Amino acid sequence: MRTPLWLLLLVVAVLLLIPAESYGRRGRVEEEEEEEEEWRGGRRGYGRGEGEDLFLLQDSTRVVQTDAGEMRVVRTFGGRIIERPMHIGFITMEPKSLFIPQYLDSSLIIFVRRGEAKLGTIYKDELLERWLKIGDVFRIPAGSAFYLINTGETQRLHIICSIDASESLGLRTFQSFFIGGGTYPTSVLTGFDPETLATAFNVSRDEVTDFLTSQQEGPIVYVNDSAQPSVWTKFLQLKKQDRLQHLKRMEGSQELPEEEGEAEQQERSWSWRKLLPSLFGSDNAREDRGRRRGKAPDSYNLYDRKPDFRNNYGWSVALHESDYEPLRHSGIGVYLVNLTAGSMMAPHVNPTATEYAIVLRGSGTIQIAYPNGSSALKAKVSEGDIFWVPRYFPFCQISSRTGPFEFFGFTTSARKNRPQFLAGQNSLLHVLRGPELAASLGSTDDRVRSFLDAQREAVILPSPSAAPPDEAMGEENRPKMATERVENVARSIANEMVVGFD
Ligand SMILES: *[C@@H]1O[C@H](CO)[C@@H](O)[C@H](O)[C@H]1NC(C)=O
Ligand SMILES: *[C@@H]1O[C@H](CO)[C@@H](O)[C@H](O)[C@H]1NC(C)=O
Ligand SMILES: *[C@@H]1O[C@H](CO)[C@@H](O)[C@H](O)[C@H]1NC(C)=O
Ligand SMILES: *[C@@H]1O[C@H](CO)[C@@H](O)[C@H](O)[C@H]1NC(C)=O
Repeated sequence: MRTPLWLLLLVVAVLLLIPAESYGRRGRVEEEEEEEEEWRGGRRGYGRGEGEDLFLLQDSTRVVQTDAGEMRVVRTFGGRIIERPMHIGFITMEPKSLFIPQYLDSSLIIFVRRGEAKLGTIYKDELLERWLKIGDVFRIPAGSAFYLINTGETQRLHIICSIDASESLGLRTFQSFFIGGGTYPTSVLTGFDPETLATAFNVSRDEVTDFLTSQQEGPIVYVNDSAQPSVWTKFLQLKKQDRLQHLKRMEGSQELPEEEGEAEQQERSWSWRKLLPSLFGSDNAREDRGRRRGKAPDSYNLYDRKPDFRNNYGWSVALHESDYEPLRHSGIGVYLVNLTAGSMMAPHVNPTATEYAIVLRGSGTIQIAYPNGSSALKAKVSEGDIFWVPRYFPFCQISSRTGPFEFFGFTTSARKNRPQFLAGQNSLLHVLRGPELAASLGSTDDRVRSFLDAQREAVILPSPSAAPPDEAMGEENRPKMATERVENVARSIANEMVVGFD
């Protein structure tokens, strides 16, 4: 009987290894700060009990660490036993520090365990500021931009949050997309080439580069008030009014209609909408009549519909379940965009849906940025090409200079997917503008303001320089290749999402 010997050795080895590992963990826990231990309070009093490895989540990973604060995440197990993946995050911020503007691919429920905070987030396209104190709970939906400030003069801020990964891209525990940032962390905007950004912001390439490389302090930064001690508190008081004025100005220039019907009430997570039922009143009425008479569903003509947005550079129309009831059942939205020659759909993000597009006419360039601010795709597409853009990924479409660029497509949400723009008069940067955004860009409020004000248009922008001339279509980026590249990128971005292509 030779085998039992190695089996015995193995058993001995395993027995020896288990305590070693558990000491290892204990050691790590002990290194942590007092506060961290309080969070796990009580546990250390017990021995290494049955099931501890399975049910006690002991190892936290530091995902952010700067002079001004840190964030740790305790991952839960994957696997079938968990019906819904969730991680637990612990954020610690020093007094007068800022967690710079970002959005995540997961929704957060934050709980203020200690200290005071100001949370800035986007609700129905406007900046919502909430002063939070100990014990407060607040939900930040996936894809919703937010920033967080420790408003305490001397007190640390401790936040515990759930990180609900059910809407995540699955790339990692959770994925941050920084709106602020510079060289560290990188803003998602740097995923677009400088020419595109210069056009989108209507400034020079140098100005864009400068704008996006000033911040290097990390995701949590001190908000400096050492120079003017009183200014910081003043800012906090003044800003709201300043922003309200700003928002009013924006509303004048913003042509995006805010529709909604009854579906609004059911919307659980992301609601960007405002009510403007009059615009679509006739459609709804027609539908209502149809329902009352018990008619079979009718068709709906996209070209008959008044564009949701139109300016000199193009128009777009989107159809949702509130406009056309049958879409509700499939959970799919439909849209159509027509860009005039040499125009650009400003860099934007779909916070609630993945988008598929089919080029109907003309040609143009598609750019997609990775979360880490590198370029995921820059490809020329023309009639017949199909491309897709994962939820949360910043992207833009630029029409070639030779003619209009028309594309049609589907989104994976029948609810209105309110795109979030990263450039132009209605951009997130405008909504978030203030000392927080300035600090997150390593700049001043005045500089950021003048930078952002250079682009006067919204949504669809003129783009003489970024638009590809048709002749530039070289061997290496013929449309067919471009589509293949799109698909490759798609595959590497998230394998499960590409199913529809196979
Ligand atoms: C911010 O203040 C700290 C000290 O309070 C200083 O070390 C740092 O250089 C300042 N940063 C900037 C950008 O002024
Ligand atoms: C798209 O816009 C161009 C002008 O830029 C126009 O000629 C064309 O008819 C439009 N397409 C549709 C479907 O309206
Ligand atoms: C950014 O992310 C993409 C995709 O995960 C990766 O291929 C690329 O190397 C990353 N770039 C940097 C600079 O980390
Ligand atoms: C771009 O800026 C120039 C001034 O520098 C201005 O005349 C022009 O109207 C701006 N264009 C847009 C689209 O905002």
